[in-house]
Amino acid sequence: MEGLRKLLIVAAAVVLAAATAAEGRLVYVGGGKTTWAANVNFTEWSSHQHFYVGDWIYFGFDKHTYNVLEVNKTSYETCNDVGFIKNITRGGRDVYQLTEAKTYYFLSGRGFCYGGLKVAIPVENIPPAASPAPSPANKNSAASSTPPPPSAARFIGLGLLTAALAASALSTAMF
Ligand SMILES: *[C@@H]1O[C@H](CO)[C@@H](O)[C@H](O)[C@H]1NC(C)=O
Ligand SMILES: *[C@@H]1O[C@H](CO)[C@@H](O)[C@H](O)[C@H]1NC(C)=O
Ligand SMILES: *[C@@H]1O[C@H](CO)[C@@H](O)[C@H](O)[C@H]1NC(C)=O
Repeated sequence: MEGLRKLLIVAAAVVLAAATAAEGRLVYVGGGKTTWAANVNFTEWSSHQHFYVGDWIYFGFDKHTYNVLEVNKTSYETCNDVGFIKNITRGGRDVYQLTEAKTYYFLSGRGFCYGGLKVAIPVENIPPAASPAPSPANKNSAASSTPPPPSAARFIGLGLLTAALAASALSTAMF
């Protein structure tokens, strides 16, 4: 009986982890864990990224120095930090989910936007699953027009965390 219960908990945790992982990737803004910072070139960084609906973006920063505000396009261009759409700032390890296929705009207030601490994030719908290999005749045209699939790197961290929490909650309830 004891063994079966443990097995059920593990199974539930695995299912939960898989479900959470499928919700979207975690993308570190600027490429690292503390790269929402004044010396990062976000134009350069974002030009190498693809963002899909459901992805989470992570802002890692010194909360005493910077903040993160979602703004509209006009405010992004003029570095206006008044009348922002959403204040993302919490503890400096802040995540935000991209739920719509549109361009999101973020900046840091306190004057840092003027030095380049701002980023535009164009979000696309998740491309349809890869179709069977194209025939040789149309291979070239298909290859050039097919967007790359989302990276395999999934939001495993949150999945495992959720799984761990679920397992501990379950074991508290059952034993
Ligand atoms: C940032 O990178 C872009 C693209 O590589 C480049 O054109 C621009 O000059 C860079 N900006 C700064 C401030 O270095
Ligand atoms: C963008 O936000 C600013 C600040 O709230 C506001 O003044 C402006 O009208 C907005 N622009 C658009 C196009 O919504
Ligand atoms: C954003 O939220 C943080 C945390 O709640 C708060 O400390 C900060 O003052 C807010 N910033 C602005 C510009 O409203």
